[in-house]
Amino acid sequence: MNPPVHLRPYAAEDLQLLERLLGDAGEMAHLGGPESPEAIRSRHRRYLASDGSTDGLFTIILEPEATAVGWVGYWEIDWRGGKVWECGWHLVPEHQGAGVATAGMVLLLEVSRARGSHRFMHAFPSADNTRSNALCRRLGFELLGEEQVEYPKGHMMRSNDWRLDLLAPLRRA
Ligand SMILES: CC(C)(COP(=O)(O)OP(=O)(O)OC[C@H]1O[C@@H](n2cnc3c(N)ncnc32)[C@H](O)[C@@H]1OP(=O)(O)O)[C@@H](O)C(=O)NCCC(=O)NCCS
Repeated sequence: MNPPVHLRPYAAEDLQLLERLLGDAGEMAHLGGPESPEAIRSRHRRYLASDGSTDGLFTIILEPEATAVGWVGYWEIDWRGGKVWECGWHLVPEHQGAGVATAGMVLLLEVSRARGSHRFMHAFPSADNTRSNALCRRLGFELLGEEQVEYPKGHMMRSNDWRLDLLAPLRRA
């Protein structure tokens, strides 16, 4: 059964959620390690100020208790001479493994499809990030190959380049 989730725009009240997600060493193992409290606050301000015409950052709300359990988002990048969307996700540990990220991403892909501005959505999880790579596969992304991606700044990461054609018929996750 699909978990009952919906998305709402990332908001001021999500600082605590971000602190939990980005301050946890285990959860940040594939993302360059935990961030400092100052770095998290500055990231929070950046997320709140993000430009709705090029970005879409959403908090995943799990019913029936309307709990904020993570985020999914997409943003515009330059890739191989053209503009594409890149997406990302992050979920609190106690709700992982229950299809919540899949359900949140299905909703996010509907939003980005409806916008129609770019054809391709990419994701660049670390090649060692089993769960994120499984999520891409489950959502119907195609694995294009390995890339060296800079994340966080100053740190090169061996990543997989996954791509989804937003014009192709929707494949149910
Ligand atoms: C990646 C992440 C969002 C997945 O969230 P989730 O809600 O657990 O994912 P889902 O339950 O929707 O499952 C998605 C896939 O991951 C697999 N998966 C989930 N937990 C897993 C685990 N502990 N080990 C192996 N695979 C796992 C699921 O089986 C499913 O794959 P399948 O279709 O082949 O069965 C979550 O693990 C997370 O937040 N990780 C830390 C942050 C991170 O790495 N962000 C990504 C940066 S690119």
